[in-house]
Amino acid sequence: MTLIAKIDHFVSVEDLTNEQILLLLKRASAFKQKDSWLWDSPKKQIFAANLFFENSTRTHNSFYIAQRKLGMDVLELDVKTSSLQKGETLYDTLVTLSALGVNVVVIRSNVKRYWENLINAPIIDCHVVNGGDGSGGHPSQCLLDLMTIQEEFGAFSDLRVAIVGDLIHSRVARSNMQMLTRFGAKIIFSGPKEWHNEEFDHYGQFLPLDDLIDKVDVLMMLRVQHERHNNQQNFSKEEYHKLYGLTKERAKRLQKRAIIMHPAPINRDVEIASVLVESPKSKIVEQMKNGVYARMAILEAVMSSR
Ligand code: CP
Repeated sequence: MTLIAKIDHFVSVEDLTNEQILLLLKRASAFKQKDSWLWDSPKKQIFAANLFFENSTRTHNSFYIAQRKLGMDVLELDVKTSSLQKGETLYDTLVTLSALGVNVVVIRSNVKRYWENLINAPIIDCHVVNGGDGSGGHPSQCLLDLMTIQEEFGAFSDLRVAIVGDLIHSRVARSNMQMLTRFGAKIIFSGPKEWHNEEFDHYGQFLPLDDLIDKVDVLMMLRVQHERHNNQQNFSKEEYHKLYGLTKERAKRLQKRAIIMHPAPINRDVEIASVLVESPKSKIVEQMKNGVYARMAILEAVMSSR
């Protein structure tokens, strides 16, 4: 019998057990090998709705493709033309979508933990999947990142993972540091000191990039999130690249087995030298591919919780 994680709402890595994550990873890999015929879909129409308040290419479209691969009917709710523009709240939007018969809704919002008043509301009968909540968390990105690391190394225990860059604004850093620590990886942080704070100390040491580059198995570079910097220009692109980026010279010091990751979108020649994006050590395109299968596993898990 196939074991499938049953998850009512996929909103935060903190709410997931290790067993659920491992089951999700197993299903995501199975979907990658055998695609959607694996899903024992319910014999009824399933409606999914995507509601993105922040821009997205990868998360939005890979959820759409995952939904279509699973045979779901998809509503792409355009925030700009919906009644949200008339002041309708997210809560009332969900009440409406639920009443219309939507079964699962994927939401990206700039509000941290926006789901808190949604998931326990008896009137809302649809599963909530978090496509990113401000600088809070990005659990589906975390799952695809774990999948990519697992494909490379087989396990997480004792791996040395460096998370580098715009830490304080990064939901990817927060979800990954929590989950990777739980699975026994050793986290090291790097980047500008002003984009790091004591919140990260619980999970790992902060070191200059040049001190850690030859010691890590996974180098996870983060995007500089200009949109969250209130137009404050901290560094020129050249300066950032030289001080904190993965330059061609630094890349030569990586261990033979080390891999390069980045959640993307990428500021080429800022966080990472452009030529390294498509270099053999880079798993960035594989991360994008894995996003579809990880999200198929997530959608299956929430639909299986009924
Ligand atoms: N990695 C990521 O979340 O990309 P998008 O913002 O394009 O979805």
